Amino acid sequence: MEILHTVAEMQTRADKMRTAGKTTAFVPTMGYLHEGHLSLLRIGKNNGDDLVLSIFVNPAQFGPNEDLASYPRSLETDLKLAEQEGVDAVFIPTDKALYQEGYQTYVQLDKLPGHLCGLSRPVFFKGIATVVTQLFNIVKPRVAVFGEKDFQQLAIIRQLVTDLKFDISILGGPIVREIDGLAMSSRNAYLKPEMRPAALSLSQALTMAQEMVHEGICATDVIVEKTKRHFAQHSSIEVDYISICDPSTLDGVAAVEQDSLMALAVNLDKIRLIDNRILKGKK
Ligand code: PAF
Repeated sequence: MEILHTVAEMQTRADKMRTAGKTTAFVPTMGYLHEGHLSLLRIGKNNGDDLVLSIFVNPAQFGPNEDLASYPRSLETDLKLAEQEGVDAVFIPTDKALYQEGYQTYVQLDKLPGHLCGLSRPVFFKGIATVVTQLFNIVKPRVAVFGEKDFQQLAIIRQLVTDLKFDISILGGPIVREIDGLAMSSRNAYLKPEMRPAALSLSQALTMAQEMVHEGICATDVIVEKTKRHFAQHSSIEVDYISICDPSTLDGVAAVEQDSLMALAVNLDKIRLIDNRILKGKK
């Protein structure tokens, strides 16, 4: 497995792969790999003949009061896991390599960031769109894989690739859950055992909502109200949003008639947890 740190090294390798006719599949991450990431690597492996992983905790996507400094890191374990998954190359740039002295170009989308996580994290998607654009230009993949747990991020990347005419197929990987239903996330590492019941209330709320729709209760305000009451059982939970929306525009819907996205974000003693599910509508 190759480990590359500079933009020039990575671009030279990418050019060689293209000349050799290889299909590079790319999985960008911020490291601290878990089963969710590994599932994305497996999708990449099945959809290309060269697999590249990047590990970069992108400062541009963290706001001033967010957890950039404490974001969990574990490079040695990450490299072992990557090797086990058959990754061919790992790109680990420094902050300076991507945001060199005098850096001033940012990529911003008009509409999709104006929903869900974008409302409480104003710089988040600008930082993501910027770093992913850079990474695409450096790694030069044919295929890139992103997790559906970050549903809004995936929607934004698909839009970005369409708008900026990147010749890259974007694949989504289904959410991977712990046995008790908790969606896998690097931030789960912050959770103390006593926080588990509150953390589990996200996936429970999504299941509850789907059951309501099955029973014919489709009005968004009724489902949201029930979800709020479910979260209120845990005093440590501070709700950021409970949204039921159109999965392609992320605009809110009044009722679950078509398949709709239910997306949740809460802070649990300052730990941000998100989860989502497509609620199957009757139509
Ligand atoms: O999903 C992530 O881990 C990050 O947002 C990404 C796509 C690697 C960009 O920094």
